[in-house]
Amino acid sequence: MPEKTDPTLPDGTIRCFAPAKINLTLHVTGQRNDGYHLLDSLVVFAAVGDRLWLTPGSDLMLEIAGPFAPGVPSDARNLVWQAAELAGWCGHIRLEKHLPHGGGIGGGSADAGAVLRALGVQDGAVSLGADVPVCQFGRAARMLGIGDQIAPAADVMSFFAVLVNPGVHIATPTVFQNLVVKDNPPMPDLPAAGSGDRIWIDWLAAQRNDLEGAARQLAPAIGDVCSALAETDEVLLVRMSGSGSTCFGLYPSMSDAQTAAKALATRHPDWWCVPTVLN
Ligand code: C5P
Repeated sequence: MPEKTDPTLPDGTIRCFAPAKINLTLHVTGQRNDGYHLLDSLVVFAAVGDRLWLTPGSDLMLEIAGPFAPGVPSDARNLVWQAAELAGWCGHIRLEKHLPHGGGIGGGSADAGAVLRALGVQDGAVSLGADVPVCQFGRAARMLGIGDQIAPAADVMSFFAVLVNPGVHIATPTVFQNLVVKDNPPMPDLPAAGSGDRIWIDWLAAQRNDLEGAARQLAPAIGDVCSALAETDEVLLVRMSGSGSTCFGLYPSMSDAQTAAKALATRHPDWWCVPTVLN
């Protein structure tokens, strides 16, 4: 995800890409005294995401465009704004929203992470949200602690996927509140470097998203999305990402993913169905 200056843009403009974050697994392994949950999650990033342009100036300003702009605040409530303040940066930010917000694939955290990465911020990402540090890292990683500990996972293979969001927003705190925390086992070690598709899919299938049960209870549409994905041709694995409501299916090839996305979009024109690569 190249962050670079572009000679065709106003002086000093940095453009950056905020890819969708996908939790291939999400194990809730405990709870801290302050209520935050301990996580062990394998996170990868999609080729689809939001786009940002940062032009230095004397005042902080946020302009939001793109298909998912409606309803996104363009003031200090937006994590992008908070990320700029954390970086001590001032200027005009243009944010193009291509990702559904409140969807378990980063949304505001992806945008904030991209801004922190572009501005070279070293510390404090977790103060903006538990998903922000991994989004700032921006590459495959195992996320531990409450999200504040990031272990690079460069050996994760690339997957062809379809992301599906039914247009239902669920608030992350509500999902965590509805979760019955058990002593869930942490994730076992990842497959060895160079392991093939079959080993990876079998390994992933043996893991979980521990938020899925609570999220499905709050938003039954998630169950409909998972069932529809499970019925697509060639699908290898179906799971929810983050606290939902976006779910993903994994496929053996990009053309299988494209065929599945097309079939789902035809049957469910109101769903966001996007074929992509995860890595
Ligand atoms: O950190 P963030 O603002 O994204 O988290 C939203 C809410 O989700 C928290 O207030 C908390 O209720 C819950 N949460 C949690 N454990 C985590 C991350 C989030 O309980 N590791």
